[in-house]
Amino acid sequence: MIVSASILSADFANLEKEIKAVDSAGADWIHLDIMDGAYVPNITFGAPVVKALRKHTQKPFDVHLMIENPSKYIDDFIDAGADIIVPHFEADRHIQRTITYIKSKGKKAGVSLNPSTPVFMLEEILPYLDLVLIMSVNPGFPAQSLIETSYDKIKKLKTMGENLKHNFIIEVDGGVNHKTVAKLASSGMTAAVAGSYIFNSENYSDPINLLKKY
Ligand code: DX5
Ligand code: ZN
Repeated sequence: MIVSASILSADFANLEKEIKAVDSAGADWIHLDIMDGAYVPNITFGAPVVKALRKHTQKPFDVHLMIENPSKYIDDFIDAGADIIVPHFEADRHIQRTITYIKSKGKKAGVSLNPSTPVFMLEEILPYLDLVLIMSVNPGFPAQSLIETSYDKIKKLKTMGENLKHNFIIEVDGGVNHKTVAKLASSGMTAAVAGSYIFNSENYSDPINLLKKY
């Protein structure tokens, strides 16, 4: 299991220290939640903060764009050091163009789906994707409970990939922890985003190691 540590639940006054701590605790990727107060009800941070953090770790930056008009900001996040760029399917009418643009710049491209968006909406775009990010909560807030229908949704997505003979990462975001990881992994999750489960622990390596076992 790939573990992507979401710094949304980190101490924002000490992000350098927090990033270094999850890096040495064994996180595979750093998950950066970009929120604009329009696509989701919260505002977090933008490309300048991503750029400032880039010098503190070599781990891939997994940038989750919970913003309107994501295509306008792709270059900013690439310049800031993003490795995997994941706009929301619902926020971009021309997502195929955005995805092919990200890939033309040599970066990994993903698409994120809200809980209410069915996976069959990805049928045409799936062959272009390196990753699909299934939101297992409604985006915008940390530490919510996983929506139970997410397990079947992940299974459906896995079957779609098998039918198309296309390999991609199935990443899940929201409510991932020691109680939900086993069923998520058996449903098809191959990358786990975890925020509060990691950052609310005393020792970041315990939750990271537990997730990595699956
Ligand atoms: C939610 C964010 C998540 C968030 C997950 O909108 O996209 O990445 O950090 O939080 P937890 O892991 O606490 O559910
Ligand atoms: Zn996220």
